Amino acid sequence: MACVIIVGTQWGDEGKGKIVDLLTERADAVVRYQGGNNAGHTVMFGNKTFVTHLIPSGILSKTTSILGNGVVIDLAELIKEIEELEQLGITVDNHLHISDRAQLVMPWHKTFDRLGEEQKGKNKIGTTGRGIGPAYKDKIGRSGIRVGDLLDLEHFRCRLEELVVENNLLLEHLYKSSEKPFSIEQIFAEFTTFLKKLKPYICDSTLLINKLIEQDKNILFEGAQGTFLDVDHGTYPFVTSSNTLAGGACAGAGIGPTRITDVLGIVKAYTTRVGSGPFPTELFDEDGDLLRSEGQEFGATTGRPRRCGWFDALLVRQAVRLNGVTGMAIMKLDVLDKFETLKIAVGYRLSDGELSENLPRSLENITPVYEEMPGWNCKTAGITDYKKLPLEMLAYLKRLSELVGAEVSIISTGPKREESIDLNPNNLWN
Ligand code: GDP
Ligand code: IMO
Ligand code: MG
Repeated sequence: MACVIIVGTQWGDEGKGKIVDLLTERADAVVRYQGGNNAGHTVMFGNKTFVTHLIPSGILSKTTSILGNGVVIDLAELIKEIEELEQLGITVDNHLHISDRAQLVMPWHKTFDRLGEEQKGKNKIGTTGRGIGPAYKDKIGRSGIRVGDLLDLEHFRCRLEELVVENNLLLEHLYKSSEKPFSIEQIFAEFTTFLKKLKPYICDSTLLINKLIEQDKNILFEGAQGTFLDVDHGTYPFVTSSNTLAGGACAGAGIGPTRITDVLGIVKAYTTRVGSGPFPTELFDEDGDLLRSEGQEFGATTGRPRRCGWFDALLVRQAVRLNGVTGMAIMKLDVLDKFETLKIAVGYRLSDGELSENLPRSLENITPVYEEMPGWNCKTAGITDYKKLPLEMLAYLKRLSELVGAEVSIISTGPKREESIDLNPNNLWN
């Protein structure tokens, strides 16, 4: 039995989807435990590329795929994703399970995400606009609707009547919007149709997951976003609204911490970020442009160009601590193929001149202190034999590992499943 959490160690988009897909070969189930369709996890198989937003990336291997209670679900988008998979010849029947405790993203959540950002103006968070923040706000405020509420349509309608009145008041008076008010009839009709399509998948996912654990099955927990988008430990308020850390898997899937056997930290060989917020090693020069073009750094959900910068060892070292990382997958090393020199942030010069090797409370107004290493300056894209990796790359990997305090378990040299070197394939699965 193994319960392995896959967690992003930076600001998301580290390559979690690729690794989940790679490891799914040995997994009996894959579980999403937080976030919603703000996530965009890219999987390349054969010559096809698919981006999952809500459904766990294991679905492409037709593995049992579970949307846990900690996820916020936009049912219309979920149905769209199911249909896109069907077009690829992948049916979700018998594989998909949706927690009856997961929260619904309602139409007002999406509207308030957009209007809230507009109101914030230059202080906007740069959200994905998927209604994630407002949906979690209502969950914590006990004004949410859960997937299971739909199973009793009379009860659902009562909740809807109450909440539509409340949210129309917010629309008019708080957001001062002249947009069409939310309609009980329209939403009820839409959600009744969603229920018809999704009812077979709705279940108590905690029972299912715990039963799989009792049967000694291998389960992957697919984190979304990354450590520094965590609502507690990230660059608040420029974060998402869930606990993205490995710890979030327990509450978001309904399993005890004693069940977790490994935490695989997904680490991009440099750093990217989408949306607003501090980013100490961000590059605004041609090196940044080269990272963006070589790494195809454009958002998988919104298409926005990602901000790019050097590897930040302070960030990833903190992520190793916060998540209890037991091994790392180092991603996108091939993107560095054209660099003569690589830089790694090993310290921060704070605004008062002090040098820090730990993360200060705020990452604003910081000057990174860099260590330089020679690049390999040759093509490594697609290499699958460890012995063929250039010495400079091995030295870079060794230094990253030393600086962040965790072992490298997987090396990724391209977006495809097979463009990977698993240094110890039996490690995770006991
Ligand atoms: P996720 O959100 O963590 O799953 O990551 P995304 O899918 O948003 O972004 C990662 C991007 O990098 C995707 O386009 C992947 O196909 C791509 N990718 C993953 N691993 C590698 C790699 O080792 N090399 C290259 N060149 N691309 C990679
Ligand atoms: P994956 O799972 C990168 C960012 C947004 C914004 C902030 C808040 O693909 O790694 P939200 O819509 O969640 O309220 O936006 O979080 N963000 C992500 N950035 N990868 C993601 O997911 C992200 N999900 C949210 O850009 O800055
Ligand atoms: Mg992504």
